[in-house]
Amino acid sequence: MRLKDRTAIVTGAASGFGREIARVFAREGAKVMLADINLQGAEAVAAEIGDAARAVACDVSDGDQVRAAVDAAIAAFGGLDIAVNNAGWSHPNGPLLSVDHATFRKLYAINVDSIFHMTHAVVPHFRTRGGGSMLNIGSTAGIRPRPGLTWYNSTKGAVHLMTKSLAVDLAPDRIRVNALAPVLAATGLMETFIGQPDSPEAREKFLATIPLGRLCETTDLAAAALFLSSEEASFLTGVILPVDGGRCV
Ligand SMILES: NC(=O)c1ccc[n+]([C@@H]2O[C@H](COP(=O)([O-])OP(=O)(O)OC[C@H]3O[C@@H](n4cnc5c(N)ncnc54)[C@H](O)[C@@H]3O)[C@@H](O)[C@H]2O)c1
Repeated sequence: MRLKDRTAIVTGAASGFGREIARVFAREGAKVMLADINLQGAEAVAAEIGDAARAVACDVSDGDQVRAAVDAAIAAFGGLDIAVNNAGWSHPNGPLLSVDHATFRKLYAINVDSIFHMTHAVVPHFRTRGGGSMLNIGSTAGIRPRPGLTWYNSTKGAVHLMTKSLAVDLAPDRIRVNALAPVLAATGLMETFIGQPDSPEAREKFLATIPLGRLCETTDLAAAALFLSSEEASFLTGVILPVDGGRCV
């Protein structure tokens, strides 16, 4: 058990990557708070996981709600060791100028402000415990941006730079901050990224850009999340780890 006696909060855990991260963390011995704007979905995943999981409603773009979710995890588990900022959203792949300012602001609120809020909510607690781990879900979009998703891509660039800067700022407190940069995966956001109805042709076109020749599985990302959140990675901070079958090489 690689996370025995550890406690974690995973945002966006009702679906996709977050759901798999929560499952794998629980399998490896952690107690996990599943925080999602979709409470029903988070409760269903928590029920499936069993006693090690709890669910809480949380809009990650709202600082008060993030703080309340962190407080709920601390109250339920007696402390918190790991925070995974996974919840995310995108505008559909499409023409640059078709994205209005309200959509742009919403993107930043969910993908970027969320990390500001989580930092404020967990860092004082991590400091009292003598350390902790924060893991942010970035994207290959923040390393090698492609057309049609500029505004989304830029949020992931911000996630990656915040990860590195937080890592150096918080290292004296023994708080590690890392990020994962997955390539396309068949989650709730897939169609948004592809920008056309999912079809064998659309997937084929995308697959041709991934040297290992397949999409990212949620289990690929969860395995990397487990490693970076475990003691095995105790000397790793400020890492942006692509989980991308070689796409960004
Ligand atoms: N799927 C991909 O191809 C891909 C690739 C690179 C990065 N990512 C990133 O992975 C992360 C997870 O996305 P996913 O692919 O699993 O998609 P998903 O849509 O399956 O899951 C996203 C989850 O976030 C929740 N969520 C959305 N807005 C929220 C909010 N304001 N507050 C709280 N929860 C909210 C949703 O309810 C959902 O459960 C995102 O940060 C996304 O940008 C995805």
